[in-house]
Amino acid sequence: MLKCFYIFKDKSSSRRRGESAPELSNESRRNGNSEGNRATRSTGSVSSPRSIPEMYREREQNLRVFTLSELKEATRNFNRLLKIGEGGFGSVYKGSIQPPNGKGDPIVVAVKKLNTLGLQGHRQWIAEVQFLGVLEHPNLVKLLGYCATDGERGIQRLLVYEYMQNRSLEDHLFNKAVPVVSWKTRLKIILGAAQGMAYLHEGLEVQVIYRDFKSSNVLLDENFNARLSDFGLAREGPAGDRSHVSTAPVGTLGYAAPEYVETGHLSVKSDVWSFGVVLYEILTGRRTLERSRPVIEQKLLDWVKQFPADSRRFSMIIDSRLRNDFSLIAAKRIAKLADSCLNKNAKERPKMSEAVEILTQAVQESQETTSIEATGAGASRPTQLPLPKQLRKKTIAETARPMSPLAQASLLKYGLYKLLKIS
Ligand SMILES: Nc1ncnc2c1ncn2[C@@H]1O[C@H](COP(=O)(O)OP(=O)(O)OP(=O)(O)O)[C@@H](O)[C@H]1O
Ligand SMILES: [Mg+2]
Repeated sequence: MLKCFYIFKDKSSSRRRGESAPELSNESRRNGNSEGNRATRSTGSVSSPRSIPEMYREREQNLRVFTLSELKEATRNFNRLLKIGEGGFGSVYKGSIQPPNGKGDPIVVAVKKLNTLGLQGHRQWIAEVQFLGVLEHPNLVKLLGYCATDGERGIQRLLVYEYMQNRSLEDHLFNKAVPVVSWKTRLKIILGAAQGMAYLHEGLEVQVIYRDFKSSNVLLDENFNARLSDFGLAREGPAGDRSHVSTAPVGTLGYAAPEYVETGHLSVKSDVWSFGVVLYEILTGRRTLERSRPVIEQKLLDWVKQFPADSRRFSMIIDSRLRNDFSLIAAKRIAKLADSCLNKNAKERPKMSEAVEILTQAVQESQETTSIEATGAGASRPTQLPLPKQLRKKTIAETARPMSPLAQASLLKYGLYKLLKIS
């Protein structure tokens, strides 16, 4: 297994000493996947599309390589007050860097500093750099550069992104301290997210499976455009006419497709399932799992089944924070789309391009039936949001000590416990 791990080496003379560029071992390159032999992928022919690592090598010079001291300066030594979030793999800080040529205004950035870098964290960091080094779409977050130092004080891996002023969809749906997003803005966000995912699935020479679609990974720019983030779990889809790749289940409980959790069979249709979950989050303003509710309402996907889109009861599930300011026709269309995304049979789920079409229709219907709020940031919404109280999210693989039952329960409460198995 070790031979499949990523190796780091100085690739170009232009790179500063002591830093290393993300690189894959030859074995992983041949396999054409970012997880070495943890996953199987059919071998391609001579004319098969280039793999992400191959594409990355052509574009790696587009990413800036930062020194640790540059990023310390950018974040005032990772000042607690500049911390904007914490995920399973590290903390995110707001910072400011100098433009590449040193001229012009400083650039506001988000710096993600990975925690103790276990094997899983290491793989994810590489995948993030390689995928985001290659992928380019208005609905994907932009990675500006990275920092990799293996100094006396240990291994440091950091990522530098464009700063997203309006944080994440999760914050807007569930954090009561953050202004509620209007119906039209919700639709704009989910349509953008669908377009981003359609690009991953259908718009590249290789198919990219995102594998971690959830509301906290849908970041929002100053105009509430959706930007998908976190490509650490992304991987290339199957080659040829195979329907799936086989891999150890990785992702977030509550969002992962059942066949993937049960069999490890991963396909773009696993992402479509997760998309269906987020559609219901948008409609209801509820998390996938809310232990504080009556038993019958705790699991979002079970609860909504009692309110089918065609029934008169349907409108009862719509987020009360919308204060009835939504289009019922559009909401029903979206619920039906969500149901088809959540089909137990993966093959029956729609393609993301089909989801884009349906959501475009829903946007038009909403334009016709509601008129109160403008799409995008509402006039009364502050441009800079207060920092929401962050949930501490850890992953099984990255937790140094086993998590206490209490901690597990609290994470499960929000359906955020990560499935991370290393085979
Ligand atoms: N580029 C960015 N601009 C602004 N805020 C960001 C940016 N990237 C991340 N954040 C903030 O940091 C938070 C934590 O992000 P992170 O990706 O580390 O964890 P997560 O998505 O919440 O969980 P997980 O680790 O399970 O994916 C996000 O929810 C978001 O609020
Ligand atoms: Mg994230």
